[in-house]
This record gives sequence, C-alpha cells and structure tokens, in this order.
Amino acid sequence: MISFEEAKKQLSTYKQEHLLRYYDELDEEQKKSLLMQIEKIDFSILKALDTKNNEALKRGVIEPIEAVSISDIAKNSDNYHELGIKALKDGKIALVLLAGGQGTRLGFDKPKGMFNIGVTHELFIFECLINNIMKVVDETGKFIHLCIMTSEKNNEDTVGFFREKNYFGYNADYVHFFVQDMAPAVDFNGKIYMEAESRISSSPNGNGGWFSSLVRSGLLDELKKNGAEWLNVFGVDNVLAKIADPLFIGAIIKSGAQSGSKVVPKSSPEERVGVMCLEDGRPSIVEYYEMTGDMITQRNSDGELAYKYGVILNYLFSISKLEEINKQNMPIHTVDKKIPYMNDKREYITPSEPNGHKFEKLILDMINMHDSCIPYEVIREKEFAPIKNPDGADSVVSARKLLEENGVAL
Ligand code: UTP
Repeated sequence: MISFEEAKKQLSTYKQEHLLRYYDELDEEQKKSLLMQIEKIDFSILKALDTKNNEALKRGVIEPIEAVSISDIAKNSDNYHELGIKALKDGKIALVLLAGGQGTRLGFDKPKGMFNIGVTHELFIFECLINNIMKVVDETGKFIHLCIMTSEKNNEDTVGFFREKNYFGYNADYVHFFVQDMAPAVDFNGKIYMEAESRISSSPNGNGGWFSSLVRSGLLDELKKNGAEWLNVFGVDNVLAKIADPLFIGAIIKSGAQSGSKVVPKSSPEERVGVMCLEDGRPSIVEYYEMTGDMITQRNSDGELAYKYGVILNYLFSISKLEEINKQNMPIHTVDKKIPYMNDKREYITPSEPNGHKFEKLILDMINMHDSCIPYEVIREKEFAPIKNPDGADSVVSARKLLEENGVAL
C-alpha cells in the first residue's frame, strides 16, 4: 500500500490534495482505507478534461468493412477448427470475462453474473457461461485459464459466489480474479468528490480498463508464462456466448490479423448496438448513438445494410499487440451524472440535477488501436442472448426464450 507521503505527492500532481483534508482525524482503519482508495484510483483519467482527449474522440472518415461471412466460414470450417483446437490444446488461448459492470439497467443488487435465469431450477448467468466454456474443455480435454474482472464494488460477492458454487464444476486452479481500477467522480471544476471523510467518490473505470488492470494484477505475466498468446475477451451479459470457439480462433490465427471480433447482423437498422466499420482505413467500432441517419439506413447494391455488423463483446486479441497498445492513451468518455457527495459542512447531499462528471474507458475503442481486426460473422439466434434489462429487448425474458430455443433446460 502507498504511504501518506506518496499519496500526497500523487494528489498534488493532479491538484486533488483536498482528499486528505480530514486524514489527521481518521482512525487507523479509515486512514488505511483512504490510502488504499487513492492507490486504486486511475488518476490519468482526469486527462479527459483536457482538449487533447476531445481530439481523440473525434471521428475520422467512416466506411463499411467486409466481414468473414457465415458462408466463408462454412467453406473453411475443417481447417479453422483444426487450427483452433491445436491452439487451445497448446495452451495459447486464455479467457477474460468482464464482470466489473454495475448492471444498473437490470436493477439487481448483486453482481449480474449471480442472477438466476432458471425457471424450474437454478441457472445463474455465471453458470451458463461456465457451461458454455465446458463444451470446449470437454472437446479438447484441457482446461483453459479464465480471468474474471470484478470491481471494488462486486469483487467480494463474486469471488464468494464462485467458491460457494464450487466454480460450477470448472477447475478452480484455472480461475483467477482481478479487480479493475476505479475512476473518480468530479465536480464541474474537475475536483474529485468525497462521499465521507475517508471515502472518495468513485466508480469502475469502464470495460476498457481491463487490460491495464490485468497487467497491474500480475496475471498477464502468469498467463504468458503458461504459454498464452491470445486472449478471448467476453462480457457477462450474453448467456449464449460461444467462448473459446475453435472456429473463431482458427479463422483469426489463419488470417494473420492482430485481432478478431464476433459480429451479428443487426436485427433492424435502429438496433442499439455498436457496429464495425473502417475509420480512416483502420478497423473501428461506432456506437449506435454516433451513427448519422444516413449511416443507419445506407444499403449496398444487394439491399443489405452497409453497416450491418453489430458487435457482441466477444473478441480475440493477440497479447503482443495489446502490450503495445497499453503504452498509448485510450480515449476517455465523460458522462454528466448526479453524484452524491459530502459538502464543506460535512452534510451528505443527494443532488437532483447532474453536478459533475464520471469517466469511462471502453473496450470498443481498442479496436481502432489495432492495424487489423477481422469481423467474424456468427448466427445471431445461436450466439447472442444479451441480458441488459428485466424485460423487453435484450432482457431476462428474451434471453430465456433464446436459451430454450438452443436446447438449454431452464
Ligand atoms: P455494460 O455497458 O452493459 O455496463 O457492460 P453495465 O455496467 O454492466 O450495465 P448498465 O449499463 O449499468 O446496465 C458491458 C460489459 O462490460 C462489463 C460489464 O460487466 C459487462 O460484461 N463492464 C462494464 C466492466 O467489466 N466494467 C465496467 O466498468 C463496465
């Protein structure tokens, strides 16, 4: 843990010395806790408040991108499968599950992975994902290292749950947890809010913080020592995610590209999903809210949407390229939020209007940092059942239906 002096120095670099204002009156436990929070905070994120970051968020020239289509994959499936199975058996692939989100839309007060989507019996989201990985483990006879990213807010619950459930039959030696960094919440003048004398207002720094947090945890070195060369990264939301998919792995390795992204055709032009594209000739993802009306409706001569490939948060990244990217700054997204805080009179205020910014790094920004990323098309109904909301689109209800259609007993 950092010392008081180190914390003070760190804070003065970022003009945030006020976080230690009440330090002298704290008890030992609180002092330790405050220093630990300061250590865990990704202060570099405050750069989002300067103009250079705004430049980084500006979009270049966007054009459609070609994908490896389902029919291309079918033609080469034997070859891809063989290559993928070999990479898995040789231990070249490790898995990263991003589970540090807050799942606000679902409105469940535990980590999203602990949600039970079963109907007649228990079936937790985490369990579903493990079952999906087990299909490949059964095929290769080899466990795959699985790193699970949690946040300060849900780490204890998540780790405890896996232990209690005996890792859902997965080999515990192959399951590793790491905690993502936190981003501070600031007022409109860039000063970090405090929630109490010993508590800094902060939230997980977005799913784009995963690689730097993995490196910082020491786990990346472990994975590399075990021979890993590629990371298959996926989210907690999609209960139909095909993870460690030999065909996907084989296709990306064969292509010689630095990375690959599973994509599905959009369900409608307006679907709220990021799409793959080329930006100034490089692979990229534009979020649905960044798309112009023309882009949303543009069609090719064959009548297909020009920007039809939605991303489903299932990527394959080469570790060596990620290490290179990690030396660069990622764009930081700022969102105006209502942030509860302690005022100068030490009263706890819950604002009714936005009173500051929160910051996030997004994994989708990593794609544009690669020279090559292959969009790899998969069958939507078989591989995409996201759980974002309790009901309606992308919900517990729609995911249950899709699971049943794919033969999963609920
Ligand atoms: P979402 O963008 O759906 O965010 O995350 P969320 O926080 O889980 O949910 P809402 O928006 O509050 O309802 C997509 C994936 O990225 C992970 C999530 O756990 C999910 O797998 N994630 C998100 C992180 O790991 N860390 C973060 O800080 C944010």
